[in-house]
Amino acid sequence: MVSNAQIEWNTSGDELVEMLKPDLAEKVIIVTGPNSGIGLETARILAGTGAKIIIPYRTLEKAHRAIEHIKQTVPRADLIAMQLDLSDTVSIRSFAK
Ligand SMILES: NC(=O)c1ccc[n+]([C@@H]2O[C@H](COP(=O)([O-])OP(=O)(O)OC[C@H]3O[C@@H](n4cnc5c(N)ncnc54)[C@H](OP(=O)(O)O)[C@@H]3O)[C@@H](O)[C@H]2O)c1
Repeated sequence: MVSNAQIEWNTSGDELVEMLKPDLAEKVIIVTGPNSGIGLETARILAGTGAKIIIPYRTLEKAHRAIEHIKQTVPRADLIAMQLDLSDTVSIRSFAK
């Protein structure tokens, strides 16, 4: 069991996974905003747990770049790119189906 005392302000996502060893192998996780910033790092870390990660995108080229980036550190990453614009309800409905 990991105590709060072991988690510092600068504990990285990779270190958290190492400590907590979450069993996410059968899970499917949608990470919004995965093409840059916090979303990209979140998708990369969760991909390392063995979960299947849905990579929503508005621009396919950006999704390809994100997938390439994640696979550099997680070669076995299970990633699926799917079109989604969160500002468009038609796009959200289509994504959900
Ligand atoms: N509480 C805090 O201390 C704190 C600190 C930092 C960030 N944040 C919050 O965390 C979130 C992420 O921040 P960030 O800097 O990593 O990135 P960000 O620039 O806010 O988000 C970038 C990602 O969001 C996607 N995105 C933006 N609008 C979208 C839409 N309409 N539909 C689908 N995807 C959309 C972008 O896709 P495209 O590539 O297609 O543009 C990109 O993948 C933000 O909400 C930010 O405000 C909070």
